[in-house]
Amino acid sequence: MTYTAKTFNISTLTGISEKQVKVHVALYEGYVKQVNFIGEKLSDVRTGTLELDSYIVSELRRRFAFEFNGARLHEYYFEQLQGGSCKVQDGSGLANAVIDKYGEQSLEEHIKEVAGTRGIGWAVVYYDPMRKTLITSFVSDHEVGQLAGLPIILALDLWEHAYMVDYVPAEKKSYIDAFFTNLNWGVVEKRFDDAK
Ligand SMILES: [Fe+2]
Repeated sequence: MTYTAKTFNISTLTGISEKQVKVHVALYEGYVKQVNFIGEKLSDVRTGTLELDSYIVSELRRRFAFEFNGARLHEYYFEQLQGGSCKVQDGSGLANAVIDKYGEQSLEEHIKEVAGTRGIGWAVVYYDPMRKTLITSFVSDHEVGQLAGLPIILALDLWEHAYMVDYVPAEKKSYIDAFFTNLNWGVVEKRFDDAK
């Protein structure tokens, strides 16, 4: 099955330039291309039309999760920036779940703490339907540290490519602030409601 890249309708953002969004979306499309490339290679190996050393096949299999999650996480990321900035609604299911889990601390404040983890990766918020609670996790690269089977509620890209057009690495906090300025929490609330 071919993976088709999505398109995103992101209007002018505050603190994240049009050029930054453009190069970032192009990078996302590169992940999609690699998912298809690896899928085709492994398919050819399976059908016998391509013979590869087993170490190369193993590496392709390992690499698949990097490319696939790289594609999928960016879809979560860009979809949250569509439709304009919007706050969490008081009394919503998400608002109540945040109070249950984090008390006085807002989800934004908690994500910012997790986002301070050193290294490239993502701060990802999941909903755990078994324990009926939110979990915020740091995912290295795109695939190391993903929580099995949990629906993703929010994904914050912390790779330098997410902000290098507008900020230097030492200004990562300014990029994170800009992300939350532009975040459409309505998308996050819908994901939470769907996950429940
Ligand atoms: Fe990215």
